[in-house]
Amino acid sequence: MRPPRYPVERALPARLVRERHEDRETWWTRTVGAPPSVYGERWIERGPGVLRSWDPSRSKIAAALEVGWAGGLPDEGERWLYLGAATGTTTSHVADLVGREGAVFAIERSPRAFRRLLGWVDRWPNVLPILADARAPLSYAQRVPWVDGVYTDVAQPDQVEIALENARRRLRDGGSFLLALKTASMGRDAPAPVHLERALASLEPYFDLAEPVRLNPWHRGHYMIGGRARAGRWAAEPDLTPSPARPVRSRWLPHPRRATDGPGRRSDRGSGRSAPRPERRGTKS
Ligand SMILES: C[S@@+](CC[C@H](N)C(=O)[O-])C[C@H]1O[C@@H](n2cnc3c(N)ncnc32)[C@H](O)[C@@H]1O
Repeated sequence: MRPPRYPVERALPARLVRERHEDRETWWTRTVGAPPSVYGERWIERGPGVLRSWDPSRSKIAAALEVGWAGGLPDEGERWLYLGAATGTTTSHVADLVGREGAVFAIERSPRAFRRLLGWVDRWPNVLPILADARAPLSYAQRVPWVDGVYTDVAQPDQVEIALENARRRLRDGGSFLLALKTASMGRDAPAPVHLERALASLEPYFDLAEPVRLNPWHRGHYMIGGRARAGRWAAEPDLTPSPARPVRSRWLPHPRRATDGPGRRSDRGSGRSAPRPERRGTKS
């Protein structure tokens, strides 16, 4: 059975183009970049600009379009925080969608992938690549302003927490939250639909959620989930993320070298790690 199509009635982002052929549709982004292609995609001239083909088998957002994702998408003039940019296949299309007036802050922690990302970003004027761990949002807080959207595609067991923590620090009220949920990364204790339900339950307090979509057959075991950030959603919660600038020791735990249960032995090796400390929330960089 063919998957359902992107809802016809829904307005597409201004720089997204759908072309209909006899028995199929193709997706294109109106590019702000310069050739050559980033990953072998097609470039064609159309009207005043140039379109780049967007392949659902290479990109989870394009696959989500194919299966009827009706939640938020990057749109012209917006700023997006992109977690897990890898070599930039999807990043380049997100950058096309937000256009020259928008910006994409592309976080990637693998130096190898990052080097390949650097191979094309200088041809896109609106991408800021940042080599960093998305689990440590304070390490790039100075370089990322408040954003209109957060997209996460990190394939980690704690992908939901990573996405939430970044959204809490940088996503404006009413902003879009998109997460390519890879259930295979979340453990074998439960089937994919159970992982999906757990993820939705974690997000529900903070977002008006869109209907999740399965990304089969292009990305098996993946869902696109997300929604719009509710106003004041984080207000009741203290910030418990340790700051990388001052993480070293907690006032409430014994110093690891002093707390011994014998000469030179630590009584609790776990206490050698930095403990969470409350700090101010939502500081702008
Ligand atoms: C599935 S790939 C992303 C594909 C990419 N979004 C695309 O569509 O072109 C996942 C990427 O997330 C990166 N990643 C995993 N954990 C990360 C973390 N904690 N911080 C930053 N990047 C991470 C990996 O290095 C990998 O490049």
